[in-house]
Amino acid sequence: MSHSVAPGRPESRQFDALREKLSSRTARVGVVGLGYVGLPLAVEFARAGFDTTGIDLDRRKVDAVSQGTSYIPDVPTTEVARLVADDMLRATTDFSCVAELDTINICVPTPLRKTKDPDMSYIVSAVDEIAKHLHPGMLVILESTTYPGTTEELVQPMLEAGGLKAGVDFFLAFSPERVDPGNPTFNTHNVPKVVGGVGPASTELASMLYGAAIETIVPVSSPQAAEMVKLLENTFRMVNIGLVNEIALMCDRLGLDVWEVVKAAATKPFGFMPFYPGPGLGGHCIPIDPFYLSWKAKQNGFDPRFIELAGQVNGGMPHFVVDKITDALNRHAKSVNGSTVLVLGIAYKRDIDDMRESPSLDVMALLHKKGAKVRYADPYVPTLAARAWHGGFDMQTEPLTPAAIADADCVAILTEHRTVDYDMVLNSAKLIVDTRNAIAGRHPHVFKLGAPAPVMQLETPAPRENVLA
Ligand SMILES: NC(=O)c1ccc[n+]([C@@H]2O[C@H](COP(=O)([O-])OP(=O)(O)OC[C@H]3O[C@@H](n4cnc5c(N)ncnc54)[C@H](O)[C@@H]3O)[C@@H](O)[C@H]2O)c1
Repeated sequence: MSHSVAPGRPESRQFDALREKLSSRTARVGVVGLGYVGLPLAVEFARAGFDTTGIDLDRRKVDAVSQGTSYIPDVPTTEVARLVADDMLRATTDFSCVAELDTINICVPTPLRKTKDPDMSYIVSAVDEIAKHLHPGMLVILESTTYPGTTEELVQPMLEAGGLKAGVDFFLAFSPERVDPGNPTFNTHNVPKVVGGVGPASTELASMLYGAAIETIVPVSSPQAAEMVKLLENTFRMVNIGLVNEIALMCDRLGLDVWEVVKAAATKPFGFMPFYPGPGLGGHCIPIDPFYLSWKAKQNGFDPRFIELAGQVNGGMPHFVVDKITDALNRHAKSVNGSTVLVLGIAYKRDIDDMRESPSLDVMALLHKKGAKVRYADPYVPTLAARAWHGGFDMQTEPLTPAAIADADCVAILTEHRTVDYDMVLNSAKLIVDTRNAIAGRHPHVFKLGAPAPVMQLETPAPRENVLA
């Protein structure tokens, strides 16, 4: 653990009492929202020796945790089972337990409305419930990604409505979550934690809580700075992915291979960081969070141009992929209409089961609209409900067998899960459109995003007999 104590913090009875409980690990901690962020955090707190309670409105998640089962791939079931059996971790749908807790971390969703305005309803609903049971000396930390100002402008007044003052009677902080689901190296425990509190006492207490469970703590001067840190990180990714997607479109036009170009550029030991093109942005964060910043900036009369431009380029990628598939089928004298297209990989990124905002769903819907017979294969996603995509019918994954691959007129690789045998795919498929550079080298039947089309003879339909002759 490494964190520096904020200078000039006010001493108070409440502060000292919680400080003592945190250092002796006798504090009772809570996590609201047991999803991709909340469950790993609750497990880290419990592992660190805190008596931990998770609160979620989703009865299935609460039941799963109570039975010692994990539903998040990065969290082993054995770990949840052990902590539940040791009575260090439990879950409930009932917020009344907040009255008994010393700290609470809020990890609820922050989606965008259709108009790209922030949807604060989950935060408001969770804070509403916490406010009913807020008591002196309690520490509340918001982790949900949100616009700069949320903690002090929205959460703080809701919590102070009962008469307690943040930074004095109770403590309030923002700490962005940086978890990267599926990352084998970095997890909740070893990704540095940025913390910004309402006043130095809040920052110090929040740093102590995290410091018990997380390797490195990075205090900043305010909740707003901590909120902005997260949005800078995600905007950085979104804009750089937008840039490399545009470079891919240029390479495609110029007959260059963007994968070769990025790989060579990445050998520069300073001043360059590789980003890779793909079928579009996915996930709960990168396509969404920058628009929180955009919304806040516009409210203050500032027009954030990079975010909007990157949004346009990235949003156009599924259409480009469909054009690429159309072009590839055309080379084989086939139309999209009536062709079977097997989409390989529909989770938004490799090696995980998360479908949120997956660009594969857009590509599938566009192909379906053009009359393609759309199928998919994804070892992480056994079924796809009709409501989850715009094709409007329930689907099941195809088996990843040579026969299923060979059956398709075109295999479109949209997510490159590492468990897939790409040699088998290469050898079985009639035609491949590879948007992730999953297939090494050049092959006459493989079309890559951002790379020259393979050199091949155009297949033309056999000439019709001249009926007039
Ligand atoms: N998933 C990621 O990779 C990731 C990474 C960094 C930050 N974040 C941010 O963390 C936050 C949570 O994301 P997530 O991926 O864990 O979401 P999630 O949908 O996986 O989990 C959120 C959970 O909150 C529960 N919930 C919703 N409203 C509630 C309420 N009022 N009271 C109690 N429980 C409630 C839901 O049932 C769900 O289980 C979001 O703001 C997200 O942007 C996510």
